Amino acid sequence: MRVRPAPRKNQERIAWGITLVLISVCGFFLCLEEGRRVSAQARQVPNRRGATYRDFQHDVQAHRQECSTCHKFPSPNWNKVRSEAEAFPDITEYPQHQSCLGCHRQQFFRGARPAICSVCHVNPSPRDSRRHPFPNPPEIFDQSAKGKEAESDFQIAFPHAVHIEIVSRTSGPRSIFRNASFTPGRASEESCAVCHKTLHPQGDGSDEFFTKPPADLGDGFWLKKGTFKSVPRGHTACFTCHSADSGLKPSPDSCSTCHALKPASVAADFDPKLSGTMGVTDRVVLNAWKLRDSTGKFRHEWFSHNELSCSTCHNAESMNTLSAASKRVGMSSCSTCHATATTDDGGALNFEWDARKADPKFECTKCHVVFGRQPVPESHRSALVEAGAKP
Ligand code: HEC
Ligand code: HEC
Ligand code: HEC
Ligand code: HEC
Ligand code: HEC
Ligand code: HEC
Ligand code: HEC
Ligand code: HEC
Ligand code: HEC
Repeated sequence: MRVRPAPRKNQERIAWGITLVLISVCGFFLCLEEGRRVSAQARQVPNRRGATYRDFQHDVQAHRQECSTCHKFPSPNWNKVRSEAEAFPDITEYPQHQSCLGCHRQQFFRGARPAICSVCHVNPSPRDSRRHPFPNPPEIFDQSAKGKEAESDFQIAFPHAVHIEIVSRTSGPRSIFRNASFTPGRASEESCAVCHKTLHPQGDGSDEFFTKPPADLGDGFWLKKGTFKSVPRGHTACFTCHSADSGLKPSPDSCSTCHALKPASVAADFDPKLSGTMGVTDRVVLNAWKLRDSTGKFRHEWFSHNELSCSTCHNAESMNTLSAASKRVGMSSCSTCHATATTDDGGALNFEWDARKADPKFECTKCHVVFGRQPVPESHRSALVEAGAKP
């Protein structure tokens, strides 16, 4: 262990010394205490060249432990981060030092300002223990500098079908699913809106664009309001039912039932350069866009789209939220309107198919941000055949 204090006032140097000693004494006793339990997997991590130790990632093999080794439910500050009326036992604070010291002693004592501290601390020093907001509650975190850049290591396991079952069993006044029947039809889909709302709708406003487009946009593409639907953020919706009080499984401390590590990301119809040019910085919007693996341009809030039942395009009952393939929206959901018997009948797909045939370099831009530069998939050809066209 080598401490290399940067040139600075003696007083501060002493304070650092004391903190480091305290941390190491603490760590020492905890090491003894946690003893055999941790030592099995915990081997001290040597400082690796090139590693910055600023970015904590759950998929590092050594980090794939029981969630509760680091996250203790509930956090001590759960009743302070939300207003009294809205507070519920929750995980709202970073893991403590001892969750890391078993392996990262060398990183905790590297240099005067060890980089690893900044995973949790804003300006780590012996006198400044302020921390970034913890990623939960997201309403607070998303507003912070760290929150604007962050991307979750996880995706959510949410069995729609199981919850649809509950709907048929519970229809009491306290159920958030009241009056929901999940059968096709607009009224029945009010329940979807409990968890999925149109993000940044245009509503009755006259400005359809999400950010200000350039004056010479013409027919060019610029992101419109009301394109995306939201997904539940944070625990408020889930812990209403899945609370320690209700005893309903999964209980709030069984993190890994609802959170699963993200697989390697699938190709999305998204272009980070373009969204940068558009000045789109909203994290929730960007997260949704990055997951668009069918069409990056489909807009939910659009006169002929929002009149349709969700089930026209989404089969919530059979969907597995952990499987990209099962969430994908197929061309058959679009071709009923956008593929026609002849191009003169106005089908956008027919038009683009013809244009691609005439010019192999033609880019299909009606529904796509980047996919339209690639070869036409078979699903598109068969949709045209089904519409009575002769591609
Ligand atoms: C080795 C310690 C450790 C373990 C084990 C661990 N976490 Fe974490 N977790 C952290 C730290 C540290 C942070 C804060 C990281 C940050 O904000 O950059 C965090 C943040 C999170 C976040 C918010 C950031 C994100 O990527 O979405 C979630 C969600 C989370 N943990 C869930 C879990 C679940 C679920 C498990 C078990 C499968 C788990 N954690 C196991 C240390 C751990
Ligand atoms: C069981 C041992 C173990 C525990 C506990 C542990 N880590 Fe790690 N951590 C590792 C190993 C092993 C690596 C990979 C080392 C490498 O790449 O050099 C790593 C990598 C990291 C990295 C990334 C290094 C880089 O830049 O590539 C960070 C940051 C980190 N850990 C932070 C933490 C924090 C914060 C905690 C406590 C919440 C923690 N770790 C708990 C073993 C552990
Ligand atoms: C995994 C997140 C995490 C990392 C990494 C981390 N801290 Fe902390 N730190 C905390 C939390 C949480 C507390 C609050 C503990 C409490 O109040 O019980 C804390 C408290 C502190 C305090 C207040 C005194 C105390 O011990 O309670 C100081 C000072 C501090 N940290 C400095 C550091 C320094 C220096 C580093 C790097 C060498 C560091 N921390 C790394 C999460 C972290
Ligand atoms: C109690 C809350 C809840 C209700 C009610 C609900 N969902 Fe979901 N839905 C979720 C969660 C949680 C996810 C996973 C989100 C994530 O991946 O972060 C999800 C995911 C989805 C997705 C996939 C999103 C993607 O990333 O591709 C679709 C589509 C969807 N739901 C449609 C519906 C429809 C249609 C209904 C009504 C029949 C419905 N949901 C009702 C919570 C809900
Ligand atoms: C005409 C077809 C269509 C209808 C109707 C429709 N959606 Fe979608 N939805 C899509 C497409 C296309 C995507 C993007 C899929 C992709 O590229 O990953 C999508 C994505 C989503 C997502 C993920 C977030 C996003 O916007 O990318 C959710 C959640 C969702 N839809 C919920 C709903 C709900 C709830 C309804 C009913 C109120 C509904 N959708 C109606 C076609 C539709
Ligand atoms: C009943 C299901 C459920 C359980 C149990 C659960 N979570 Fe979550 N958690 C969610 C959902 C849903 C979200 C919202 C995800 C999103 O915004 O994409 C979420 C969000 C979070 C976030 C905010 C950051 C993010 O990923 O957006 C953190 C941090 C978090 N959970 C940590 C935990 C930890 C730690 C535990 C265990 C102590 C836990 N959760 C238990 C369902 C659950
Ligand atoms: C209206 C109450 C209610 C809400 C809100 C709710 N759940 Fe559930 N959930 C249930 C019930 C009841 C069950 C148990 C169903 C059973 O065992 O038949 C359940 C079961 C589950 C299961 C386990 C399914 C299985 O196969 O064992 C998961 C995972 C889950 N819920 C996640 C979530 C997430 C994530 C959210 C928030 C987006 C959420 N739930 C919101 C009532 C609810
Ligand atoms: C009316 C909207 C629409 C039009 C027009 C359209 N597509 Fe698609 N495209 C989709 C949908 C929906 C998917 C998702 C899955 C599928 O293939 O059914 C998709 C998927 C794709 C994929 C991904 C294939 C894969 O399996 O990963 C490519 C590449 C693609 N389209 C290229 C094109 C080209 C080239 C054109 C022009 C000839 C075009 N698309 C016109 C809606 C459209
Ligand atoms: C019920 C008929 C219907 C269905 C189904 C449908 N659309 Fe549309 N869509 C329309 C009409 C009508 C317009 C307006 C005329 C036009 O732009 O072609 C439109 C417009 C669009 C636009 C341009 C919107 C804008 O803001 O300029 C896109 C992109 C689009 N649709 C994509 C899709 C995709 C992708 C699907 C399948 C997931 C789909 N549509 C399903 C009827 C439909």
